[in-house]
Amino acid sequence: MFPLSIFGRVIAGSVAAALVVSLWILFAQASETQPANELGQLEQASAEKGYVRASVCRSCHKVEKDQDGGFGPNLWNVFNREKGSVPGYSYTKAMRNAGGQWDKQSLKQFLEQPKTLIPGTRMNFAGIPKEQDRLNIIAYLKTLSD
Ligand code: HEC
Repeated sequence: MFPLSIFGRVIAGSVAAALVVSLWILFAQASETQPANELGQLEQASAEKGYVRASVCRSCHKVEKDQDGGFGPNLWNVFNREKGSVPGYSYTKAMRNAGGQWDKQSLKQFLEQPKTLIPGTRMNFAGIPKEQDRLNIIAYLKTLSD
């Protein structure tokens, strides 16, 4: 049973592969989107909006690569970084012992109420109540890397 030439089968194969990849991309994007406009739905996270919202963060944190100083630790490469791990920064014991990495989930919790996720942290910041704002800030934090 060879109704298709080799060439035909290669074409059919590529079309099928392209279809699978596009479906996968659609699905991946859909699962990234979550709840927060008036309809209770989250917009796609926006790094640009996050940058604006994070001006308050930059009053305490440096965000450029290799930049020292700041009341808080440098936030370059913070996404997926071990908690409390910037060399030379003097963290509280609470932060040093927090354990694990800064991923989407832990950042979402920390930025909502820093002292609830890490009691004893020196990050004296009330937190960002709106989930969409936090997701935007996290999208911005992800851009702080090579
Ligand atoms: C009032 C100053 C201040 C503000 C405003 C502030 N932070 Fe912080 N932040 C700190 C300090 C100080 C620490 C170190 C905490 C410790 O050692 O307990 C910290 C720690 C962190 C950490 C942990 C970093 C690491 O290396 O483990 C993250 C992530 C973070 N801040 C993100 C943010 C973001 C995002 C914002 C804005 C929404 C923000 N911070 C606003 C002072 C601040």
